[in-house]
Amino acid sequence: MRLETTLSKKLGLKYPFVAAPMFLISNKEMLLASAEAGILGCMPSLNARTPQAFRDDLAWVRARTDKPIGINLTIGLTPPERIEQDLSTCLEFDVPVIVTSYGNPTEVVKRVHEKGRLVFHDVISLHHGKKAVGAGVDAIIAVGAGAGGHAGRISPFVLVPWLAEELKVPIIAAGCISDGRQVVASLSLGAQLCYLGTRFIASSECGASDAYKQMVVSSGPEDVVYTDVVSGIHANFLKATVPENFSADRSPEGAKRWKDIWSAGQGVGLVHAVKPIGAIVEDLAREAHDTFSALG
Ligand SMILES: Cc1cc2nc3c(=O)[nH]c(=O)nc-3n(C[C@H](O)[C@H](O)[C@H](O)COP(=O)(O)O)c2cc1C
Repeated sequence: MRLETTLSKKLGLKYPFVAAPMFLISNKEMLLASAEAGILGCMPSLNARTPQAFRDDLAWVRARTDKPIGINLTIGLTPPERIEQDLSTCLEFDVPVIVTSYGNPTEVVKRVHEKGRLVFHDVISLHHGKKAVGAGVDAIIAVGAGAGGHAGRISPFVLVPWLAEELKVPIIAAGCISDGRQVVASLSLGAQLCYLGTRFIASSECGASDAYKQMVVSSGPEDVVYTDVVSGIHANFLKATVPENFSADRSPEGAKRWKDIWSAGQGVGLVHAVKPIGAIVEDLAREAHDTFSALG
């Protein structure tokens, strides 16, 4: 059985996996290592402090590989001028995939499609999925319950096949995928790509601190709390890093707290070691093939 889908082939990926964008901790090293491993690495443009630093990051990656990469524009949470600058830089560097989140992707879709490139948009509900499809996005990222970062409440077991039935665009499964068995499960539910964040926190290349990576490795799903106290939007965090009696902060400053309060999803339970991205990807592929064989 080949680990391949229509969308992974269209993107020229070796495997149908995405290293999902993570605020503060995804970096250019992850983009490069993912590209070299044959998967799509993604980074929020905002992880570069300034538009110039973002341009430097893309130039650094492009000097080393011409394989596909993805850039996340957090449209609803970022000043429009910054989005505009970063989008122009992406188009200049011919970034093949733009991942939009937290807002209306209509304008981004127009600009990206003019260049013949793709937009993936992440959602936690059918309502927002329909809006994004109306805006013309090329694929929907279905972010299920238990995902790292901002997550919904619908189990991925339902969200992925449900959105695949309801929306006539490719669906990308996100939330709690940490090993190859879950890759096979996601593909069987109709996903075209598997979108993994938490698994890649525990990668050598990730910008998270060693303590953060070790906490991901040693935690189980019961150590994860789903709360809106950090930024006003429900997200999953490592419980031990959320101070007691922490009060909701709905200002943009709230987002800065992600530096000290570490996000991760329930998939921590199946993350057992910090490894280079190349090794994680080969583990996922081997485990998926073993699962296919065991199923017969
Ligand atoms: C620490 C952390 C930060 C994240 N930051 C972002 C972000 O800036 N933009 C975004 O679209 N998604 C963000 N996410 C969500 C991921 O892109 C992805 O949807 C999620 O990690 C998938 O679930 P998993 O962690 O269970 O694999 C973040 C996730 C984590 C764990």
